[in-house]
Amino acid sequence: MSARLIDGKRISEVFRSDVARRVAEFRSATGVIPKLAAVLTGDDPASAVYVKNKHAACEQAGLGTEVIRLPRETTEAELLAVVHRLNTDPAVHGILVQLPVPPQIQPQRVLDAVTPLKDVDCFHPENVGRLAQGRPRFLPCTPAGVQRMLIQEQIATAGKHVVILGRSDIVGKPLALMLMQKGKGANATVTVCHSQTSNLAEVTRSADILVAAIGVPRFVTADMVRPGAVVIDVGINRVEGRLCGDVDFEAVREVASAITPVPGGVGPMTISLLLENTLTAAALQTSGAPGAGNTGG
Ligand code: GUN
Repeated sequence: MSARLIDGKRISEVFRSDVARRVAEFRSATGVIPKLAAVLTGDDPASAVYVKNKHAACEQAGLGTEVIRLPRETTEAELLAVVHRLNTDPAVHGILVQLPVPPQIQPQRVLDAVTPLKDVDCFHPENVGRLAQGRPRFLPCTPAGVQRMLIQEQIATAGKHVVILGRSDIVGKPLALMLMQKGKGANATVTVCHSQTSNLAEVTRSADILVAAIGVPRFVTADMVRPGAVVIDVGINRVEGRLCGDVDFEAVREVASAITPVPGGVGPMTISLLLENTLTAAALQTSGAPGAGNTGG
C-alpha cells in the first residue's frame, strides 16, 4: 500500500489566501503596510532562490517587501550596521537575515542583533525562551509549518511518539519545544535524535510521527520506519541537479501511512508562516492594531 501524500503546496495556498485576507484587513484598519526586509549576504545560489520565493510570496499576500543584497566580502560590522538600520526603521516590521552568512561573519552575533519585535524567524534568544515557556511571540517558520500541516491533515499528535531526526536551532530543537507543549497540534511525547544517538533505527521505528531534518539526502530508509507511521521530510538537498529530501521517498512511501514530498511538502509551509509572522510583527509595532495571531504580549 502506498502512503497518502501530504500536499504542502495545496495546504499553503489555502493558508496564504487567509493571510492575504488578514493583511488586507490590517491595512485598511491601520493604514500600515506590514513590511519584511530580507538580507541576503553573498552569492549562495540556494539562498538566492529562497529569498526570491519569500519576496514573491510577500508581494502576493499584500505585504511590503525589500531585499537587501550584500556582497560576499561584507564584514560582520557592515552586516550589523544594516541590521541596526532596519531595527530602527519604522516602515520595516520584520527582519530576516538569510542563512548561511559568509564564513567571516558569526551568525549568532547577527541574529542576536535583530530586535526581538522584528524577529520573524524566531531566532532571537528572547523569542526562543518565550517559545520554550509556552508563551510565544512568533512561531519559528519551519517547525510551525510542520505543525500546521499535521493539524490541517488531522494527524493527531496528543499522546503520540514524535521522533525528530536533527537537533538544529532552526528546526529540530524548536519543533521539539512546540510539539511537547500543551495545546492544539502538540501534547506529543518527543524524542530528538542526532549524530550521537545509539540504536537510531530502533528509535525511529518507535515513532508514530517521524520528522527528518538533518540535511542528508535519502538518509531515512524503509527499514527505519514503522509500518503506518507518518513521515515528514524537512530536508531540501540537491543531488545531481535535482531536489530531494532526507527521506528515501520511493521506498518509504510503501511503508508509511502518509508522507510529505520534496519539493512541495514542508517548504511552501515555511514561507506561509513567514508571511503570518510579518503580519504579527506589524500588529505588535502598531498601537491600537487588531490582534494578528500569536502576539503573546
Ligand atoms: N536558511 C535556511 N533556512 C532558513 C530560515 O528558515 N531562515 C533564514 N533566515 N535562513 C534560512
